[in-house]
Amino acid sequence: MKIAVVPGDGIGVDVTREAVKVLAAVARARSLPFEPVSFPWSADHYLATGETVPAGAFEDLAAGYDAIFMGAFGDPRVPDMRHAAEILLGARFRLDLYVNYRPVRCLDDRLCPLKHFTAADVDFVVFRENTEGIYVGAGGNLKKGTDDEVAVQEDVSTRKGVERIVRYAFEYARERGRKRVVMSDKSNAMRHVGDLWQRVFWAVAREYPDVESSHLYIDALCMQMIKDPRQFDVVVTNNMFGDIATDLGAALQGGLGMAASGNIHPGRISMFEPVHGSAPKYAGTGRANPFGAILTAGLMLDHLGHRAEAEAVERAVARCVRERQGTPDVGGALTTSASGDAVCERLEFETATA
Ligand code: NAD
Ligand code: IPM
Ligand code: MN
Repeated sequence: MKIAVVPGDGIGVDVTREAVKVLAAVARARSLPFEPVSFPWSADHYLATGETVPAGAFEDLAAGYDAIFMGAFGDPRVPDMRHAAEILLGARFRLDLYVNYRPVRCLDDRLCPLKHFTAADVDFVVFRENTEGIYVGAGGNLKKGTDDEVAVQEDVSTRKGVERIVRYAFEYARERGRKRVVMSDKSNAMRHVGDLWQRVFWAVAREYPDVESSHLYIDALCMQMIKDPRQFDVVVTNNMFGDIATDLGAALQGGLGMAASGNIHPGRISMFEPVHGSAPKYAGTGRANPFGAILTAGLMLDHLGHRAEAEAVERAVARCVRERQGTPDVGGALTTSASGDAVCERLEFETATA
């Protein structure tokens, strides 16, 4: 496991340290080779050098590493987020990581914010299209700064782009024994891209008669996520709706500090990062919850073929939450670093039977 590690800004640095600590502990316990290599790309680096990501860097990562782990990006000193656009969105776009895999799982009843529901009721995955939509940066400004100013931001969906994420969602459902796939869009108001998503979704759905297919407008999806999360297995949606729905999903998991994600291109190098941002107010204070980042390391282990190790990481985090061995946002009194230690102490591996 040769891993490129890009901690980034703010609490990205704090939580990445703990994720790497846990990966090292897993590797030690299971005799897996583990070579993390750190990259300084961040707001600090950009402000000091003018460089966001060096030319050819993503190609080098793809050629020389098994996976990429990122922390978070965002710094008030870079208001246009240029470095984040080139590092984080750069990785997603340049490496064509079209699957943004965001599991919404609640690990403990105490973290479930909904009355009348328990942790077991919150267990679904969101597949967010990760290379198109409003994130492509198409558009521009006219007459900027005048009374006649115009701003345009285009929402771009391609047939290939929609089809591959929809198909991925159905394949995942079939492989993992999930019964239902719901596609969410805003085709009542956004007729052009909505029409494409509708036609592609229902055409692909016909190839998966063993999986139940349905549709919800994104506003209704958000409402239903809160009303009864049990109805969801697999959700597939576009880039921006997926971004928004997974912050809501994070709230169902006990907060942004608990949410993990993978940015995947099947068969190619992939990138893993927690769902949360750089939370500047917590940077370096020891209050950042590292569990989302640690669970993200678990997703990376799973992706690299280490399913048993990934499950051990998730079990250890769940135990920490249960025993209140975490940061204040999950009801504990530990620091970021002590929370990482607590996970390492609770790693238990089932003995191999094969
Ligand atoms: P944020 O996710 O950084 O934080 C929002 C709030 O959620 C925090 O103030 C905090 O109360 C809580 N929170 C988030 N992560 C936590 C953790 N690990 N432990 C405890 N509490 C946590 O979102 P924001 O404040 O909207 O954005 C801050 C910066 O991060 C912005 O520059 C934004 O653009 C950027 N951002 C980056 C990413 C990313 O790199 N993937 C994701 C989201 C936001
Ligand atoms: C996320 C973040 C990013 C996104 C931002 C930082 C551009 O919110 O990963 O969820 O919108 O994709
Ligand atoms: Mn987001």
